[in-house]
Amino acid sequence: MKKILAIAVLFFAGAFAQPGATVYQSCAGCHQTSGVGIPGVFPPLAGHIPQVLTAKGGRQYLIKVVLFGLQGEIMVKGQKFNGSMPVFASLKDADIAAVLNYISTQWGNKFPAGEKPFTDAEVKALRASKLTPAQVAEVRKKLGLK
Ligand code: HEC
Repeated sequence: MKKILAIAVLFFAGAFAQPGATVYQSCAGCHQTSGVGIPGVFPPLAGHIPQVLTAKGGRQYLIKVVLFGLQGEIMVKGQKFNGSMPVFASLKDADIAAVLNYISTQWGNKFPAGEKPFTDAEVKALRASKLTPAQVAEVRKKLGLK
């Protein structure tokens, strides 16, 4: 009986350890399970998110992309993209924080020194800004990413 209980506890711990992985299923169709995207169509998140987090304002920008979408030409690691990232405002604050933590720590990605995991409160605070996907592209321009 004790053994069964221990297995059950492990199972549930596993299921809840990575809530971001479940949310990421809504992203994987475009950015791929491996996070590498599709050249020229869907930008890679693998090997790229830490670069965004290092830019001044990059952390807030990432929250805005998921909340409000993104539309406009962007450069990611020297490659041009001009697609449309859907709006995910219907996700809960906690789910947005979880998926951002997931993409910041998967595929060898790491939080840059001094950057802490995303919190629900940070997402909640930015919801009110209600940007359009084109305005999010304007925010991105100021990051100076190449
Ligand atoms: C329908 C396809 C699609 C889905 C689903 C999707 N994205 Fe995107 N995403 C894109 C496209 C296309 C872009 C680039 C938009 C552009 O060119 O302006 C993008 C851009 C991004 C960026 C900005 C990268 C940068 O360098 O500025 C992030 C971060 C991102 N997506 C994360 C996510 C997350 C997290 C999810 C799931 C919650 C997700 N995406 C779901 C298509 C998608």
